[in-house]
Amino acid sequence: MTETLPTGTQTPGTQTPPAFPVPRECPFAPPERYAELRAAEPVSRVTLPTGKQPWIVTRYADVRALLADPRVSADIRHPNFPAMGIGEQEAGAKSRPFIRTDPPEHTRFRRMLQAEFTVKRIRDMRPAIQRTVDDLIDAMLDSGPPVDLVTAFANAVSTTTVLGLFGAPTDDIEFFRDVTRISGGRTSSAEEVGAALASLFRMLDGLITAREQAPGDDLLSKLVVNHLRAGVVTRHELLSAIGITIVAGRETTTSMIALGTLLLLRHPEKLARLRAEPELMPAAVEELLRILSVADSIPLRVAAADIDLDGTRIREGDGIIALLAAADHDPEVFPDPQRLDLDRVNRHHVAFGYGVHQCIGQNLARLELEIAIGTLIRRIPDLRLAGAFDDLEYKNDAATFGIEAMQVTW
Ligand code: HEM
Repeated sequence: MTETLPTGTQTPGTQTPPAFPVPRECPFAPPERYAELRAAEPVSRVTLPTGKQPWIVTRYADVRALLADPRVSADIRHPNFPAMGIGEQEAGAKSRPFIRTDPPEHTRFRRMLQAEFTVKRIRDMRPAIQRTVDDLIDAMLDSGPPVDLVTAFANAVSTTTVLGLFGAPTDDIEFFRDVTRISGGRTSSAEEVGAALASLFRMLDGLITAREQAPGDDLLSKLVVNHLRAGVVTRHELLSAIGITIVAGRETTTSMIALGTLLLLRHPEKLARLRAEPELMPAAVEELLRILSVADSIPLRVAAADIDLDGTRIREGDGIIALLAAADHDPEVFPDPQRLDLDRVNRHHVAFGYGVHQCIGQNLARLELEIAIGTLIRRIPDLRLAGAFDDLEYKNDAATFGIEAMQVTW
């Protein structure tokens, strides 16, 4: 954080700051406006659909500095919290997902999950994820083209995996898709978000009861025995923690599997290299994560003190959005940022965020992407879009950038 006095201190002027969010012109790059701002006004005011006027931050160094700064709060109850969905803040203030809390409250949840979310447990999920992926590809091959890759594959892989983590039934995948769509939808009302979360909590409550009666060795049993029974968390807190993990883990990974495949389909020479050198898959996954940065505007914060950044004073109580896609396309850090470079040396992207809230599921997400995309391109080598690239529709109004549907053929 800069020690010098601010030279270009900004305060909201009489003019209304430009509207935010802005849609992407290209699905594989952040909005062009981010680059203009990064060069000219790296800390700038915007106006949200709610009327709030937070700062957006577009430089890699600033995004990392802010997300690691203890003077920055993620508490959703703050009146200036820059929630983008109209119902998100009101519903979030009630359900208190730990992603929107601060230490020490946040630390308690983070420790609880991290204790059970071990590297070994994730590694042990590889055969199950591979089986899920193979079964879904078998079903696609059996049904024949065209197939919507989002529904038939991406969403099914991510939802089955995150539910498998908690031993939740996977026979109603659409239910979870609806819960996430409503709770992450920017036009959902507080009542709609509340009702969607309540139905999720009801389902999870039944699972907790079952584990209380007959605990096993699974992650949920460990959470029940080691944390709920031990009085570390209340039942509502446990429900909220599991609920946000399912919601956070589903939509992001679905988007990444579908858009990552799409991006590769646009680069046949890279696809050919990946098929020939499958050991490059982990490097490809990092590049896809960086380029797509689908969780661009998920890190929402409020300044808990005055903060000087790039000559601008962010005042205590101001909202802040640390734009991950802007950081991951900062040419100072990632030269030629839109280039899909399988040999790129710098892999320190912030697609999973940074600081205390950095994604807890990132190793699981990496594993899913590697298996899902790697198996898909190997088993269906002539996979291609069934329609025109220009006709595809994207989700610009959800918390996570994504694609509505993607018909593929082979
Ligand atoms: C490619 C897929 C994913 C992306 C891009 C992604 C991105 C992110 C980002 C950017 C954050 C930080 C938000 C902030 O700072 O406000 C985050 C947090 C989180 N993610 Fe992920 N995520 C992914 C997959 C997953 C998966 C698979 C899970 C769980 C199984 C998960 C669970 C969580 C949770 C619980 C948090 C909150 C952590 C905290 O506040 O301490 N995510 N994720």
